[in-house]
Amino acid sequence: MATRKHKLWEGRFAAATAPIVEQFTSSIALDKRLAPYDIAGSLAHCHMLVACGIIPAVDGKRICKGLAEIEREIVDGTFRYDAADEDIHMAIERRLIEKIGPAGGRLHTARSRNDQVALDLRLFVRAEIGMILKSITTFQKVLAATARRHAQVIMPGYTHLQRAQPVLFAHHLLAYHEKLERDGERFSDCRRRADVMPLGSGALAGTTFPIDPDQVARELRFARVATNSIDAVSERDFIVEFLAASAMLATHLSRLAEEIILWSSTEFGFVSLPDEFATGSSIMPQKKNPDVAELVRGKTGRVYGNLVAMLTILKGLPLAYNRDLQEDKVPLFDTADTVKGCLAVMTAMIPRLVIHADRMREATSDGFLVATDVADYLVTKGVPFREAHHVVGQAVRRCIDSRRRLEDLTLKEWRELSPAFGADVREWLSIDAAIARRTAGSGTAPANVARRLRRL
Ligand code: ARG
Repeated sequence: MATRKHKLWEGRFAAATAPIVEQFTSSIALDKRLAPYDIAGSLAHCHMLVACGIIPAVDGKRICKGLAEIEREIVDGTFRYDAADEDIHMAIERRLIEKIGPAGGRLHTARSRNDQVALDLRLFVRAEIGMILKSITTFQKVLAATARRHAQVIMPGYTHLQRAQPVLFAHHLLAYHEKLERDGERFSDCRRRADVMPLGSGALAGTTFPIDPDQVARELRFARVATNSIDAVSERDFIVEFLAASAMLATHLSRLAEEIILWSSTEFGFVSLPDEFATGSSIMPQKKNPDVAELVRGKTGRVYGNLVAMLTILKGLPLAYNRDLQEDKVPLFDTADTVKGCLAVMTAMIPRLVIHADRMREATSDGFLVATDVADYLVTKGVPFREAHHVVGQAVRRCIDSRRRLEDLTLKEWRELSPAFGADVREWLSIDAAIARRTAGSGTAPANVARRLRRL
């Protein structure tokens, strides 16, 4: 049952860890991706230990040199990971001692893996947010550019997936721009709270050594230092917030993906997918499927699941550190990779969509999309809106019964419904006029949309 390796913590044990336990508790397969952050944190910690006179400067030098070499081994792929290492922190320390001898054993002075992993995760989340914010901005640029390119295109706007009122396609796309803007704010906000340096908390109670956490924070560019050691090693709020911001972002990407799936169907025919972004069927030769958009929609399930997983890991944990927390890496890494992947593929696909302006326009012509405008017209003639709504509802019913459109009603028929109608009702029946009239507030009028696009 004995394992080959010596453990860095084996002192109080008489028997070696069972292999099945070693396997079960190991997180190295996942957390090896924290290596660059772990090394950066160790370098800063070592510099501080030397500056505070806690370890000899010569040993500090050897440690830093050893860490730099280990980093190179990891980058080159020559670093040998071992399940017996348990996690990345042990792997690096084990290798350091292998390389430079007992001096390597001084690095872990005034530190615990509990504050070490909290530091690594904060560095990781900070870096991932930086990348995601860049990707969000790029995606927003693509949305704005696509809106600009199709500035004149008119489509039916929907409520309940029923044609409702005509809108500019650009206005519709820019709705996603706004959603993504809020996503960016949520990630920035999350980064602000992740930007706290936890080292010095030790296992949970702090340390007996005269450390200088501010120096470590300065070197690693943290805005603040943790103020309660028990909190610092037990909290993963910043991960929950990251996962929540990601869940919201995934929701927005999923809704756009869903629209692309609908729009590219024969029933809608609003857009065509470029061949490079569609897939075929293994049995039906005619098929061209929107699998990319479907996967963006589908992966949202994982992103939600990861948020719930993290919350659930935390909910019953007594303070401070518990090994349960090691499970934080699974949802964190998966969500970071998933949202980056979804953003990248949507950013690549959107500008390549072929927009069928004629089909969109055609879809605005039946379905009484200007009914609200006719009611508004009556209001300008002094009719209370509720009454106007009723009158136009009757007009719609008359059209449905006689298979006509609102434009086909004669002035005589309009006047039978309400004497307030005049010949100028014509001007309120045009789709373009309906759009142009919506200049107030955040409406779809071309002037509004153009102004918004200029500002972006
Ligand atoms: N691999 C551990 C984690 O990810 C590191 C901290 C381990 N601490 C401990 N006391 N076992 O949470």
